[in-house]
Amino acid sequence: MTRPNEFKALVVTETEEKQFTRRIETKTIEDLPDGDVIVKVHFSSLNYKDFLSATGNRGVTRNYPHTPGIDASGVVVESSASAFAPGDEVIVTSYDLGMNTAGGYGEYIRVPSGWVVPLPSGLTLREAMIYGTAGFTAALSVWRMVENGVKPEHGDILVSGATGGVGSIAVSILAKSGYGVVAVNGVVDESEYLKAIGARDVISIEEATDTSGRPMLKSRWAGSIDTVGGDILATSIKTVNPNGTVTCCGNVASHELPLNVYPFILRGVTLIGIDSQNCPMPIRAQTWEKLASDWKIEWLEKLTTEAPFEDLNAKIELMGQGKHKGRTIINIAGV
Ligand SMILES: NC(=O)c1ccc[n+]([C@@H]2O[C@H](COP(=O)([O-])OP(=O)(O)OC[C@H]3O[C@@H](n4cnc5c(N)ncnc54)[C@H](OP(=O)(O)O)[C@@H]3O)[C@@H](O)[C@H]2O)c1
Repeated sequence: MTRPNEFKALVVTETEEKQFTRRIETKTIEDLPDGDVIVKVHFSSLNYKDFLSATGNRGVTRNYPHTPGIDASGVVVESSASAFAPGDEVIVTSYDLGMNTAGGYGEYIRVPSGWVVPLPSGLTLREAMIYGTAGFTAALSVWRMVENGVKPEHGDILVSGATGGVGSIAVSILAKSGYGVVAVNGVVDESEYLKAIGARDVISIEEATDTSGRPMLKSRWAGSIDTVGGDILATSIKTVNPNGTVTCCGNVASHELPLNVYPFILRGVTLIGIDSQNCPMPIRAQTWEKLASDWKIEWLEKLTTEAPFEDLNAKIELMGQGKHKGRTIINIAGV
């Protein structure tokens, strides 16, 4: 398979005034880090971590100039690994992609073959990026909750940050699987959207947040998928039913967890941390298979905004204003 040596990539640069600028520049394959697989990127997507990397967050990206993009789907153009050959359709997410390794906001990536997942037969490259890291994380969260024994007949599941990428896909997978879903929505009123993707009810951030300091509150939920942290996560732990399960993956509201031990020792509540980045490959591949089959959402397009590569900068800014909804995919190859 032939490939050009030069390609376009979004480059984030730190100026002498310690500001961060972003623009699409020409790079060469030699600029890419080492790896045994080169992929021509067709689609990438926008996640909260990409926003952080694109705006100079050193907790995500240590060194600039840098090309973000923690998600990529595309076609292998070169491989010295026996598991992959030119022409293979693949997904690359997590590990260090887009953090300190040039990511999916470039037309080509070079990565270790251990990061590469063959595209499951039930998904297109475009659909894989509608899910992306957000969908993968939502699926892991639901999986861990189900594995811990939470069934639809036990009651409703609370989902916070529900209009966001992880939240929207969690709402959809749960609704598709027969769970009653109550979505927390607050930054911008999106009740209509949330009901269209499967929420039975929508509550405000205020209703989902208790700051009274009481150690436990009336039970309301069989489980909770939290994507925001802080008081909302603490409140869901205090309001989940005895033996209920809460998963925690994000910190958009806060990294704090104001809580004591009582929900755990008096109600047997389980809190499960979700880390998609270091998820072992066998579970990773199984989760992608699940997203391509039983959990494939029929209404994926309702969640999706597609943007051309040139509009990526504007989409990053929108996320910074808290106005991002559902999943934004970036058509890197213009296919
Ligand atoms: N652990 C992992 O492996 C993993 C993987 C992926 C993502 N994450 C994390 O998960 C979180 C969500 O990611 P995402 O990609 O879904 O982000 P996103 O698309 O930006 O969505 C975040 C949502 O959170 C809500 N929100 C924003 N500010 C809030 C606040 N101050 N209080 C309460 N809710 C607020 C908004 O929903 P409403 O308007 O509906 O309230 C927003 O749509 C991030 O912290 C991200 O880093 C973790």
